[in-house]
Amino acid sequence: MREMDKARRELEEMISGLYTGEKKLLVFGEGRQNARVMLVGEAPGEKESIEGRPFGGKAGQNLNAFLELSGLSREEMYVTNVVKFRPTKVSATGRASNRPPTKEEIRLFLPFLLKEIDSVAPEWVVTLGNVPLQALLSSRDTVGQLHGQAISWRERTLYPMYHPASLIYNPSLRDTYREDVLRLSELLKA
Ligand code: URA
Repeated sequence: MREMDKARRELEEMISGLYTGEKKLLVFGEGRQNARVMLVGEAPGEKESIEGRPFGGKAGQNLNAFLELSGLSREEMYVTNVVKFRPTKVSATGRASNRPPTKEEIRLFLPFLLKEIDSVAPEWVVTLGNVPLQALLSSRDTVGQLHGQAISWRERTLYPMYHPASLIYNPSLRDTYREDVLRLSELLKA
């Protein structure tokens, strides 16, 4: 864990060196060391960057509801994101709004995520949406193609799921999401 503290400090220094004009608040992962399951999202949103915790906003509520349905609880897991700051753009009204992380941002944070995975050492890595899936597999395969499949990855099992925020924009995914969560809970019992 001491090594992770050092890695965090290095990351904070690197980011403040790169983004000198603006203060980038980093939201690190949280959860149990040696958690059996690690959930990896895309990047914090507004609420997460205020509270300093991943998945605290609406997407997190969707996530918790489905986890409860499957008998899995967030306390048994480790939850993190690929990109540790909130990517923003300025909207037409002059307010900051969320945007997807750029390739460059993902590339910047990936080495830290890989260290984080090695440190927590989960058996299962559940990716939420395309960003963590494509970053970890270094591929362009999409969550639409791979969701709900257990994929062998670096001595662990990677399980791609849709991002819980996608249910907000696309409610027709709810049944698929529910099936994927239930399949995951069956696989975890096996
Ligand atoms: N979406 C994410 O991918 N991560 C969060 O922490 C919040 C929303």
